[in-house]
Parts: sequence; structure tokens; C-alpha cells
Amino acid sequence: MTTAYIGVPTARVDGPAKVTGEAKYAAEYHAETLAHGYVVTSAIARGHITRIDAAAALKVPGVLQVLTHENVPRLPPPDPSYAEEVGPRGTPYRPLQDGTIRFSAQPLALVVAEDFGVARHAASLVRITYDRADHVTELDSVRSQAFVPHQWEILPPVPQPRGDAIKALAAAPIKCEAEYRLPVEHHNPIELFGTTVVFEADGRLTVYDKTQGVQNVQGYLCSLLGYSKDRIRVLAPFVGGAFGLGLRPQYQVFLAALAAHVLQRSVRVTLTRQQMFGLGYRPETWQRVSLGAAPDGRLTAIIHQAVGITSQFEDYTEKTVQSTARLYQCDNVTVDYKLVRLDLCTPIDMRAPGTAIGQFALECAMDELAVKLHRDPVDLRLGNYAATDQAAGAPFSSKALHNCYRLGAERIHWSRRKPEPRSLRDGEMLIGLGMATGIYDALQVPASARCELTADGKLTVSSATADIGTGTYTVMTQVAAELMGVPIDDVTFRLGDSSLPQAPVEGDSFTAASVGSAVKAACENARGQLIALAQTIDESPLAGLRADDVMFANRQIRSRSDRSRAVSLREAMRAGNLEVLRADASASPTPQQNRYARFSHSAVFAEVRVDEDLGTIQVSRIVSAVAAGRILNPTTARSQILGGVVWGIGMALEEESVLDQTFGRFINHSFGEYHVPVNADIHGIDVIFVEEFDEIVNPLGAKGLGEIGVVGVASALANAVFNATGVRIRRLPITLDKVL
Ligand code: MOS
Repeated sequence: MTTAYIGVPTARVDGPAKVTGEAKYAAEYHAETLAHGYVVTSAIARGHITRIDAAAALKVPGVLQVLTHENVPRLPPPDPSYAEEVGPRGTPYRPLQDGTIRFSAQPLALVVAEDFGVARHAASLVRITYDRADHVTELDSVRSQAFVPHQWEILPPVPQPRGDAIKALAAAPIKCEAEYRLPVEHHNPIELFGTTVVFEADGRLTVYDKTQGVQNVQGYLCSLLGYSKDRIRVLAPFVGGAFGLGLRPQYQVFLAALAAHVLQRSVRVTLTRQQMFGLGYRPETWQRVSLGAAPDGRLTAIIHQAVGITSQFEDYTEKTVQSTARLYQCDNVTVDYKLVRLDLCTPIDMRAPGTAIGQFALECAMDELAVKLHRDPVDLRLGNYAATDQAAGAPFSSKALHNCYRLGAERIHWSRRKPEPRSLRDGEMLIGLGMATGIYDALQVPASARCELTADGKLTVSSATADIGTGTYTVMTQVAAELMGVPIDDVTFRLGDSSLPQAPVEGDSFTAASVGSAVKAACENARGQLIALAQTIDESPLAGLRADDVMFANRQIRSRSDRSRAVSLREAMRAGNLEVLRADASASPTPQQNRYARFSHSAVFAEVRVDEDLGTIQVSRIVSAVAAGRILNPTTARSQILGGVVWGIGMALEEESVLDQTFGRFINHSFGEYHVPVNADIHGIDVIFVEEFDEIVNPLGAKGLGEIGVVGVASALANAVFNATGVRIRRLPITLDKVL
């Protein structure tokens, strides 16, 4: 199918607004008499507040109020009809509701002043005395108490065991068993979490928030403050990165709305970079993978155990072990997922939640098995290729992973790799090659969209979704222009406004498929209306044609078989005497789709150069070959994979949130000490999109790309470091002290 816009490389339609600074972020909106809040956080990890002394703070000129649990109004019980879209099981913690301290860096007071600097200074004068209790923040000290949680309903369930993995492992001639450790990581989007609440003259609140889901935040605030939905509107037209941290309403939005409600004026609350380390995080995990194989490399047993951390008040679960049960052909598989409770805040999804962690352990274990078997790591995977989803017993809607292996291997010149470590060098540099498999769910969830065409031919399409940097604005504009046959410059896509048609949070790589399908449905609705109008014209050139017989192109509706039979959109609108034609639609996955296993796959190849004397690691090359259905926009798609790969490099080599167990708090809470990749760390990254024609996965045939890019990168790098040095590192990040 030739298309005008879908599949064509297209620069971001929101790019000019972003580079010129015209795009505004949550903390950049202004209001008359805007007050500023500064958060005071807990210095201890567990206990109670015995006293908050705000007298000195209140004496500072310009301070309006110090909100604490002692003086905020009692809120109505949360509206039971509201459920957080991405809220794990448990009791979500609400700030300033009682004097209990559940984690270090918990917000305990909000100082509100006429000016940010005044609020910050006054916050330093608030004195808090505590009744301190012993805290536990160390996974190892409570691992024996790990429990099987109720898996969060929105996740695919933990697969049931198949066969007898313990027996098969005992009988396996070749065995590989090891433990893997991943630390806590914190999201570090450039844009800090912040909220500006505009207190409107009639008492309604207009809330500019940094979030991945405006309607979720609207429901949350209404539930907590007891407002009806028409009194709170939430906007987030631009988001400076979020990576999962914006899937749940964070405490600054609650505090800003609460302060506006109490003070009856506009309030802004922005967190500092240090305070961002008091929000959610990727949970620390302990994992153990046991593989059994026949001498020919056939897998005969897989056991994957994982223990993740959560808070004392919510059971955050993620899909750490799910892909292990489906990725390879094997008759005896047991996966097992547990949690331990610590005195920390609840973890939250971070790019490829669960899967990025689980695939690290599995794909390192596969590499270790390849070494034991003297088999090439790619051959080992091809020899255990799963033609159907091993966990669900279902066919894949499409799976071109074999081509990812082949094309990725070619691109990195895999054939030069020597199985024996320390075999390839360039002067002082040991060169290593490693690879891994990636997989991520290709979901579609219910979403809605609206299409409005004006008499002068301008098209506005809208949905309450988000664009967290992923390219939603651009891709939806392309889809709408394509379907309506209008120039892309005549199309505007609106998002990030709770008053727009229903959309879920932007997450889990489901937005292009979900909102895109809704946009397609809304456009199809509009097309139907336009065809009917065109056929009301006297002696209509389209008389007798059905929807399938016509196409929309060049601002016209025309017969597919006879180009001369055409009616312009303008004429059709005039026939109906319409100034605006409006079409709403929703899209949901069908039972037919659900009969198939739907996943994006990838093969990641890495080349590292390790300094033999210093242990420093340079990632000289990553090749990521991705099979993700139809690529709607190769430009933004490539950006998604590049970003994911950079995340993977950070995960492998740099990122680690260090807990000081004495204080139960993260101590490297700044960019000085929490390292993320910078330009100097990033060298060649090649992205290959492997063709996949998929009419089943969703109406657009596109699979998500937001997460697949990170999956497998850390394992490919760990495997490459082994190939370079002979040192097997199973605990991330791979720093030079572990290499030497
Ligand atoms: Mo994603 S971690 O669901 O934003």
C-alpha cells in the first residue's frame, strides 16, 4: 500500500514549538497573584512527628501559610468510584493527612509564600521533632520474608509452571545457575515534577501538571478534594520526559491543588532534583536463573525466581518473569515472583518495567549457557526459537525475531567475534562482542478520539492522551492526514487536556496503537458522513458508491476505479451546509486480537572496548534490530529506540541509587553523584527496523516502541564485557572496580 503520510519519515510537528521555547511546561504557566509552595521533607525513614514548629517560618515576610497535617482541612473520604489508572494494590499514601512517617523524604509540610525564594528560605526554618522507629531498607535483610503478592490486575499474570522444571534441571547434562542483582534506579527527566494550579474567578481549578495522564490526575484530584469533574481541568500539552514516573499523580499536584483550595488562590509547587529522589523508582531486585540443556543446546529446564522491593503500604508488582516463560521453546519452566516490604516509598514503572530487569537475568544466563556449551549465542537462541507463545500456548500475531538476529549480526559483523574472551584487541583495548534478545508487550487499550473538519478544510483531531516526547502529536497528525486525504499542514492534533475525549495514561508502549486506532475510527466515522453528504449532491459523481469503493486524497473523495468521479471535501461540506463536521469514535481490542500473543521483539548487539589497565568501558557500538509491526514514522520511531538504548547503557554501566542504610535514604540524589549517560558516553547506535506485516495486532498494524529499545541492552553489554575480559558481572552497574 502506498501512503501519503503513514510510514513516511516526518519531523516532529511540535519540534518548532519546543526549540523556540514557545512550548510551555507545567511550572511555566502564570497566573495573577501566583503563590509558590516549597516542600519540607522527612529526615527519618520511619516513625511519627511529635511536633512541627513553623513559627519562625511564618514570621518571614511574604510567607502566607505553612500547611501541615495539623492544619489542613479534613478531606472527604476518597471517592470509591475513582481508581487510579496505574495504582498498585494497597492504600495510596496521601500527604499531610497524619503524622506517620512511612519513608525518608516524605513530604511533611508545604510552605506557601509570595515568592519561591522566600518559600524555600522559610522552609529551612521549619523545625520538626520525631518519635523515631527502626526502619528496614535493605532487601537482603528481609529476603527470607519474601511473599507472593496479588499480581496487579492490569499486568499479564505470572505464568503457571509447565512440566517439571526441578526434575528436568536435576537431570540436565548441562546446567547453568546464577544470581543477578539490579539496584534501585531513579527516573531523571529533564523537566522536574511541578504543577501550577490556577484558581479561577468562579472557584474552578485549572491545573497544569507534569503527568502522563491528564484524566487520571483530574479523577484523582476530584476524588481527594471532593470536587465534581467540571470544577477541575487538567492540562499537560508538553511533558519534558517522564519515563513512567508520571503514570501516577505525584505528591506535588496534590499539594498544589490542596494549597489552592485552602488559600483560594493560584499556587505553584515545583520539586527540586533532590526531592525527585523521594518519588518512585525502579525497584531493586534479586534474581536467580537456572537453565538446563541437552548437549545439542536444546533447553530442557528454565527456572527464574525474582524478588523485588515494595513499600509498606502498596504492593508494586511488575512483569519481571513473564517473558522468561514465553521467549524460548522449553517444556519445563517455572517462574516465580515475590516481594519484600521496606520502609521506602512505593516503586513505580520505569521504562520497560519488569521486562528490562527480567531480560537482564535471562539473557545473561543464556550467554553463560552458550559459553558452557561452546555454542554461538545467536545459534543457541535460534535453536530454541519459540514459534508460538510458550506461556499462553497462543500463536504470535507476528514475530520476525529471527530476522532481527540475522540483520543485527550482519550489521555488527558478528562473524569476527571469537568465543574465547580476550581474543580481540586493539592496542591496550580489549574488544568484546555480546548480544541479547528483547521482547515487550504490544498492547492496545480502549481510547477515544474526535475529528473536526471545518468548511475551509482544516482538520482538528483530539484525544486526552499525552506526548511525553514519544511523538504522539506527529504520529496522530500523520494518521489523520492519511485517512482524510488532506495535507499534513492542514491537520492539528490536540492532546494533554482532560476535557478532550477519553484516553488512558500514556504508558506501556500502547499509545500509538490505542489512540492511533481511535483516531482511525474517528476519521472513518467522518469519512462515512462525508461520503453520505457527497452523495446528496444532484447527480453526484459518487452516486451508488460504497465506503470501500472510494478513497480520500488531495482534499477529495473519489472513486478508486475512476479518478474522474470525485467530490471535494469542500463540496461535500457545502452540500450539508456544514461549518464544522464532527465525528467521535472509540476503539478497543477485539476478542479476535486477544486470541493472539502480541509482542515487539528485538535483537541487541553490542561492541565494547575495555581498557585492560584501567577497567574503563567504552560502548563503541550498539546495533538494535527491532521487529515492531508497521513503523508509522521512521524518524520518531528511531528516536524511541535511540533513547531506549541510551537508557540501557545507563542501566548497564552507570545508574544506581545508593541507600544509606543508617538513615534509610538515597544519598546520591544529584546529577553530580547519580550518573546518567552524557554525550561522551554515547558512540555508534544503529537502529534497524525489521519488516513485520501484521493485520491482527491492531487496526494500524503498529506495535509500540517506547520500551522495547531498552530491553536487552544491559545484558548485551554485560555479555560483551565478558567476551572482552573474561569477567562475568551479574550485579549492575558494571563499574570499573568490578571489571578489574
Ligand atoms: Mo512507561 S514505564 O509505562 O511510561
